[in-house]
Amino acid sequence: MRIGVLTGGGDVPGLNAAIRAVVKRAELEYGFSVVGFRNGWQGVVEGQLMPLNREDVRGILPRGGTMLGTARFHPHKHEGGIEAVLSTLEAERVEGLVCIGGDGTLKAAQKVAKAGVKLVGIPKTIDNDVEGTDLSIGFHTALNIATEAIDRLHTTAESHNRVMVVEVMGHTVGWIAVNAGMAAGGDLILTPEAPFDIEEVAAFIRRRHKSHASFSITVVAEGAIPAPGTAMDLNVAGEGQGGHKGSIGERLAHELRERTGYDTRLTVLGHVQRGGTPTATDRVLGSRFGMAAVDALKAGHFGVMTALVGERVKLVPLAEVAGKVKAVPADLIKTAQALW
Ligand code: F6P
Repeated sequence: MRIGVLTGGGDVPGLNAAIRAVVKRAELEYGFSVVGFRNGWQGVVEGQLMPLNREDVRGILPRGGTMLGTARFHPHKHEGGIEAVLSTLEAERVEGLVCIGGDGTLKAAQKVAKAGVKLVGIPKTIDNDVEGTDLSIGFHTALNIATEAIDRLHTTAESHNRVMVVEVMGHTVGWIAVNAGMAAGGDLILTPEAPFDIEEVAAFIRRRHKSHASFSITVVAEGAIPAPGTAMDLNVAGEGQGGHKGSIGERLAHELRERTGYDTRLTVLGHVQRGGTPTATDRVLGSRFGMAAVDALKAGHFGVMTALVGERVKLVPLAEVAGKVKAVPADLIKTAQALW
């Protein structure tokens, strides 16, 4: 059997571990040959691929990014895209596909699977918002990076008696904000799941500074939003992109400075969270998912995604999870907020 592997969407640390596991499992256990498609689904549509064998994946385990390249490209959104996927796979005699990606790539995978392609998905995203799996590749590394950054901000915040606003990634969910905030002792944690009222946020910081602290750390997910009808929401209505001006971190830092009078600084962590070497957890998860995906192809389980459920790797139907968002549960957000 000849199988293909691709990585789509934003890169994350741990993708190379998954690619390596796919290649090794395929070659050593089953005698399959493997090709890697360049730049996600775009490489399948355009027929850009390279043979992959054990030698090619040597040394990539600790490397961040993806040796295959990646792109935010979805074949079903391009005219003739799915047909181009089918014709490349036929021309290259690729009988099975491993698609490593987040919500967009997996949604595309489901559409391609519906068109008859034998494929298995692997979830990756630093946002950790893929439904059906406790963890996605990349989240653990991003969480560690964000935690270390907030630890570092703590000492400078304390020295200068400042309010620090830290913006972390997470455009629809706050998994990084909640977990890094809790791990590093953030005083306030704002997520897309729980829209905030700036007046309450400012009052909270004033209260904290009056009662027992001379500094504060506010961790905000990039997708956090003011609650409808609250002061900050009304302040910016109609301005800038989507009715908002600047990133949420910028707006928040500005408002807190104005409303509390405290010296306030903003740090936007951005793509640093996706870079560099993966943690041991992400390497192990990538390796386990890569192996499980090839095992699934061998066993004839198609249209599924590997998932971590508790301690075990399972297969879940793509149709049940693709396109759904795994939000942070309200009680976890509450717990994270409780230790100010
Ligand atoms: O979806 C993963 C993610 O890292 C988000 O947290 C972030 O909003 C987005 O990708 C950034 O995308 P890009 O790398 O295309 O700027």
